[in-house]
Amino acid sequence: MAVERTLSIIKPDATRRNLTGQINARLEEAGLRIVAQRRVRLTLEQARQFYAVHASRAFFDDLCKFMVSGPVVAQVLEGEDAIARNRDAMGATNPANAADGTIRKAFGESIEANSVHGSDSAETAATEIAFFFSERDIVG
Ligand code: RTP
Ligand code: MG
Repeated sequence: MAVERTLSIIKPDATRRNLTGQINARLEEAGLRIVAQRRVRLTLEQARQFYAVHASRAFFDDLCKFMVSGPVVAQVLEGEDAIARNRDAMGATNPANAADGTIRKAFGESIEANSVHGSDSAETAATEIAFFFSERDIVG
């Protein structure tokens, strides 16, 4: 195992319901350290750029509209195996399929409004962290 960093986003459905603290507590309980955090309102252009990998998917336009429907909290999480650890803490994309004890099971409203985003590989983690943060914003 190695210490990694991953990008997490608390999505608009969760900020709308004032769940930032509860989600952060679950991330910390999972062994992740929040080493950078910023609450932002994305523009549609930024959302489209962030999710460009999904540009050809049927859900892309709806997803981008959802991501700009309210503030999000972007954060860098650090820890042993942080990328997989965060994905485990998040649970399956569709909250209906997410395991007990996961963030999406506890808080997700739908396959789209599923409360959190997490990078899915070391490569995407590096790109996604750089999308929101510069190295001096990250304090380990
Ligand atoms: P994320 O990237 O947000 O961490 O989620 P994920 O890896 O579990 O899921 P992914 O396949 O990357 O999809 C990105 C986000 O798009 C929305 N989505 N909507 N309506 C749909 O069928 C659908 N499928 C995915 C979700 O917000 C998902 O997290
Ligand atoms: Mg994904």
